[in-house]
Amino acid sequence: MRTYKITSLLTITSFALFSHSYGQKMASLKDSYKNDFLIGTALNATQIEEKDPVAKVFIPKQFSAATPENIMKAEIIHPGWDKYNFDLADKLVAYGKKYNIKINGHTLVWHSQLPAFMHGMQNADSVKQYFTNHINTVAARYNGKVFSWDVVNEALNEDGTLRKSIFSDKLGPDFVTEAFRLAQAASPDAELYYNDYNNEQPAKRAGCIALIKKIQAAGVRIDGVGIQGHWRASNIPLKDIEESIVEYSKLGIKVMFTELDLGVLPNPWDGDAADVNMKATYSAKMNPYANGLPDSVQAKLTKGYEDLFKLFLKYKTNVSRVTFWGVNDGQSWLNGWPIKGRTNYPLLFDRNYQPKPAFDAVIALKK
Ligand code: XIL
Repeated sequence: MRTYKITSLLTITSFALFSHSYGQKMASLKDSYKNDFLIGTALNATQIEEKDPVAKVFIPKQFSAATPENIMKAEIIHPGWDKYNFDLADKLVAYGKKYNIKINGHTLVWHSQLPAFMHGMQNADSVKQYFTNHINTVAARYNGKVFSWDVVNEALNEDGTLRKSIFSDKLGPDFVTEAFRLAQAASPDAELYYNDYNNEQPAKRAGCIALIKKIQAAGVRIDGVGIQGHWRASNIPLKDIEESIVEYSKLGIKVMFTELDLGVLPNPWDGDAADVNMKATYSAKMNPYANGLPDSVQAKLTKGYEDLFKLFLKYKTNVSRVTFWGVNDGQSWLNGWPIKGRTNYPLLFDRNYQPKPAFDAVIALKK
């Protein structure tokens, strides 16, 4: 009886997965865009370990690239001064190989999600040793195994100046260049990227361009820049994004959209940001679509994705990858950030892996 139930559940789920638009097979993002750019997703531990049977079939059909959502961050991969935990990262690499999915390592140097032993570290020599050991060890282990690295994540303020962090404080303003120098030596076969949010905004973009020029002037390799793309469906800065693709391309590097999601919920603050340390308190008013998304908002989301992918296609020679920050709406970090317990709808697939109108619009651009 029990076996029967599970089998029929799986049959229903797989039927739902592959039947779309009156029984047609669901189109594939990676196949539709194979001549344009890679299509990536963030992956969590359950997906990497293939513990979810639906995700196991679904992900390799839709995506040609993947970024670990958390498991390569320092707090997980390097939990103690001399202690590394490579288990999940090794599994991720094996997963990429098995399914021909290009892995982008995320991330070697970032001020957030640092291991507990780094909290409050005062001694500059210790920070320098951590920084050197961490990059040398992690980047060397995965050389030839990951396609690329987000070498440094989020080093800039909104005005384009260098963010105050344990790295800028203790290592000085050249730490970004030094991180790339170390990564280049330890991982010579991987592409090396700088990644940030809001770096399509003019002031932050100018700081980002200066930072990249500084790395290049030092004779150190940088292959690309990642624009995270945590935007709101109602407020996509298309003009800034287009200018950014053009301006960054002039530096001779690739441009990527690395963490794309379009939130539809009200913002607790004035400006848009994606600082993982920002938090706000829950209220029902801030969670208006707990019981479903109104058609008008769905239409806005669809139009947002359509406009963006039109732009990405216009610049397909410059844009090398577009990665969504999660597979389906139920797994998005935006259900928990910056307010816990909300229901957001930022991706192309709904909570049951069903394609949303935004998916159809993105696929239609390639028909
Ligand atoms: C987020 C993850 O999605 C969450 O699961 C985690 O709790 C916090 O970090 N910018 C980044 C990503 O570069 O690493 C962040 O990921 C989202 C913002």
